Amino acid sequence: MRKPIIAGNWKMHKTVEEAIVLANAIKRDVFDIEDVEIVLCPPFTSLGDVKDVILETNISLGAQNMHWEAEGAKTGEISSKMLKQIGCKYVIIGHSERRAYFGETNQTVNNKVGAALKEGLFPIMCVGEKLEERESGKAFDIISGHIEGGLVNIGPEEILNLVIAYEPVWAIGTGKNATPDQAQEVHKFIRGLLAKKYGKDTSEKIRIQYGGSVKPSNIESLIGEKDIDGALVGGASLKSESFVELVKKSSQVVK
Ligand code: PGA
Repeated sequence: MRKPIIAGNWKMHKTVEEAIVLANAIKRDVFDIEDVEIVLCPPFTSLGDVKDVILETNISLGAQNMHWEAEGAKTGEISSKMLKQIGCKYVIIGHSERRAYFGETNQTVNNKVGAALKEGLFPIMCVGEKLEERESGKAFDIISGHIEGGLVNIGPEEILNLVIAYEPVWAIGTGKNATPDQAQEVHKFIRGLLAKKYGKDTSEKIRIQYGGSVKPSNIESLIGEKDIDGALVGGASLKSESFVELVKKSSQVVK
């Protein structure tokens, strides 16, 4: 049984004050949910304060990026050690916005995934095709490149601490989510790749989230699919009402 994971990716939203208000509102309304893992990924500046709000609750902390080196002359970067020490359990790696605007490649994603795992962090590794790649029939090649490239030298024990987020780029922030069938097809494909690499038993234990315009009105049909184990949520995670509804609805889906 894979425990569904609902993670809120706040991206570059919320000042520290706003983050504290949002985290408190979420905490108040999800305190009794045990069958869904809940993760908040605020900007770096709010990690410490959000951690204080969610201390000893059922909510975990995640960051949105990190560098793969432990320390050094890397102006503007943050290391896995820093994230671990501030209380992060998770770190999003290779989000499509980072691939598109900040030069992330499968190689940098792989470096970061390896460094995060080594530090005891759980990476949420993002994969997904662009619209033109889907339309030209290349979606599965791109996704398998992201998976293979991101997981070089990641062993069968480590992989159990990794979450994969399938996020079709055309669905992110567009209001146009992949249909449950479209998403399930890709999730099944990804699990097949993992089975080839790590064996079937291991692949069955790895959680694969869907991301891209997830909202309260589509969450149930998405995570009702066999291989969809939760969601990475952008827009709908910025208001407590919608995020809480996502968590509660996920908790009611029995597979
Ligand atoms: P969205 O973003 O829910 O706003 O589409 C998802 C993401 O980028 O993780």
